[in-house]
Amino acid sequence: MNIRGLQDGDIKAVREILAQGEPFVASYQNYIYWMLGRNFPSTCLVAEKNGRILGYIGALLSAEKQTVFVWQIAVKSDERGRQIGRRLLENVVIAAKNMGITQLEIGINDENIICRCMVEKLVQDLESTITEKEKYKGEGFCERVYRILI
Ligand SMILES: CC(C)(COP(=O)(O)OP(=O)(O)OC[C@H]1O[C@@H](n2cnc3c(N)ncnc32)[C@H](O)[C@@H]1OP(=O)(O)O)[C@@H](O)C(=O)NCCC(=O)NCCS
Repeated sequence: MNIRGLQDGDIKAVREILAQGEPFVASYQNYIYWMLGRNFPSTCLVAEKNGRILGYIGALLSAEKQTVFVWQIAVKSDERGRQIGRRLLENVVIAAKNMGITQLEIGINDENIICRCMVEKLVQDLESTITEKEKYKGEGFCERVYRILI
């Protein structure tokens, strides 16, 4: 499996994967993913195997260059549980470190036990720390934003 930057040709597959991840992620317009791939190529990544896109992570460097914020992560529904999400997240951690960034943030829905487990496992393996930073209440959902020191 290859982890690489998001390209225009991946957008259809990425949007399908995000749609499968509802309600915890959502698929937005093509333009959003075109813009992300063009401007954040080291932190907006796909997992690809034999020409098939199996997962996606979209993360953005804050304007103050202090934090990388993980906005969306999703793995194809029939490929989950095979460390793809973990590898996508690890690759963003590596990209962030390469940019001299020492903290990652991720918003996780209170009901998304799997994502929380994935993040906590990575934090444990990195011997890092995780703290809750804030709570966001949106239209019918609630997310806690966690900060991870990397
Ligand atoms: C969350 C998601 C990206 C995880 O990706 P994944 O490739 O299935 O997860 P991984 O195989 O990399 O698992 C990594 C760790 O997560 C945890 N995990 C994964 N699946 C789990 C499950 N079904 N139950 C409990 N923990 C689980 C485990 O700690 C696992 O580590 P381990 O296998 O060493 O024990 C995937 O489930 C997904 O796309 N979900 C829908 C969209 C979504 O919720 N996005 C996240 C928004 S914050």
